[in-house]
Amino acid sequence: MKLFIDTGSVAEVEEIAAWGVLSGATTNPSLLAKEDGEPGDSIRRICELVDGPVSGEVVSEDARAMVAEGRALAGLDDRVVVKVPFSSEGLTATRELVSDGIPVNMTLVFSAAQALLTAEAGATYVSCFMGRLDDISIDSEAVVKEIVDTLGPERHAQVLAASIRHPMHAVIAAKLGCEVSTVPGKVLKAMLAHPLTETGITRFADDWKSRPEFGEWLRGLVDQGAAASR
Ligand code: E4P
Repeated sequence: MKLFIDTGSVAEVEEIAAWGVLSGATTNPSLLAKEDGEPGDSIRRICELVDGPVSGEVVSEDARAMVAEGRALAGLDDRVVVKVPFSSEGLTATRELVSDGIPVNMTLVFSAAQALLTAEAGATYVSCFMGRLDDISIDSEAVVKEIVDTLGPERHAQVLAASIRHPMHAVIAAKLGCEVSTVPGKVLKAMLAHPLTETGITRFADDWKSRPEFGEWLRGLVDQGAAASR
């Protein structure tokens, strides 16, 4: 499963892209509204940083206006994927954008029936929001499983787990066979943490320091490598 970052913050993408784990990014109007600066500049910069698909969302509700906004967003960068909210108008807009060669991420999909329509309209990604389902006491794991099973192994649309609130949402999405999970920076940071990793690093460092001559040896080895590569 690929990991995207779910954010409107260029600084957050800059920080986390350096880990080398991001394959793309998703934004939405709410995320971009929290940031300073022009949204187009942010989307372009995020495209450069992740060098992969970056979703930018349309806000109109009728198909014609969605298509116009989608074409404009796609013009920002070749890596832009147009995010279209699920509705009959959204399906019409998706079909038209796709026939122009513009990839679509259909968002706000909450059922297998909606996912089937999304895939038939030609969307590249079907975004199912796990956290928002759990918020209203609908089992997000069951819904994502039903979407994955319904679209089947030969599916053309990729299942994208969104509204990820904690690391287990991402783990569940991967186990269910989602192609992508889009994860907020805060949750990506929570995925780093394990108390045994932290105590393990401290113990290795302390044991190494108990043999200062080993520290000397490693520094020498690094210097030799650096000299040889000059
Ligand atoms: C997906 O692409 C959305 O941007 C996002 O995951 C929504 O998450 P939220 O429910 O935490 O707002």
